[in-house]
Amino acid sequence: MSTHLFYQSRLPRPELDRAEGIYMWDTTGKRYIDGSSGAMVSNIGHSNPNVLAAMQKQMERGTFGYRLHFQTEASEKLAARAAALAPEGLNKVFFVSGGSEATESAMKLARQYALTCGEAQRYKVISRTPSYHGATLGALAVTGYAPMTAPFDPMMHAMPKIPAPRAYLDGLDPTDPATGHHYAQMLEDKILEEGPQTCLAFMVEPVGGASTGALVPPAGYMQRIREICDQYGVLLIHDEVMSGGGRTGRFFAAEHWDV
Ligand SMILES: Cc1ncc(COP(=O)(O)O)c(C=O)c1O
Repeated sequence: MSTHLFYQSRLPRPELDRAEGIYMWDTTGKRYIDGSSGAMVSNIGHSNPNVLAAMQKQMERGTFGYRLHFQTEASEKLAARAAALAPEGLNKVFFVSGGSEATESAMKLARQYALTCGEAQRYKVISRTPSYHGATLGALAVTGYAPMTAPFDPMMHAMPKIPAPRAYLDGLDPTDPATGHHYAQMLEDKILEEGPQTCLAFMVEPVGGASTGALVPPAGYMQRIREICDQYGVLLIHDEVMSGGGRTGRFFAAEHWDV
């Protein structure tokens, strides 16, 4: 079938007819189990009736209210709930349209914070290889995956990278805090090499996503990178685009939501 859509692949694909819960049906009536929640985004199932009802209720009231002009009950309620579920001190929520925009916004907020603190010389965002933080140019600059980044290298500002703590590849024991410290030390070394006063933030996927396949950090790693960041005034950005929203725990557990 000829198409006007740019699919990034010539592989034929079935045409979706409908989807419900874990199932998807194509237009020939064939049923599929969506075992990966699409691209890991349909985690509460397709066409959830509670979600559909809440969306319809809101759409009937109003479809768009620009945040510089209006506040809306729905977004206020969602932000309040997210803040209540977030760790102590994380009280503000900034909604965006996707993961790349989220990581870029986090970097821009970090930069604005540095400017406000009179630290305009801080601009480098350290990240890890491999990692995936998004496809837009800002997010790609902190993504550690050459096949994706190399074509665009001349168009981006090079950002420092350190190895992700893949203890299983390096033959190290992930349960031994010495392993966590070994990888965290790479962060301190990189900060010192780059010049601490130029380092703005360290971006990390707490549980690895597309690039490191559910990589859980070795014992002691997260605690130690927190200490190192604090020591050098470097902001620590958790990219939970893939691992947040209940995928590793209870954030969106039903008891918290009345949709
Ligand atoms: C950890 C992480 N950050 C950012 C992104 C980018 O998200 P999006 O594809 O919504 O732009 C992804 C996407 O898979 C991701 O896994």
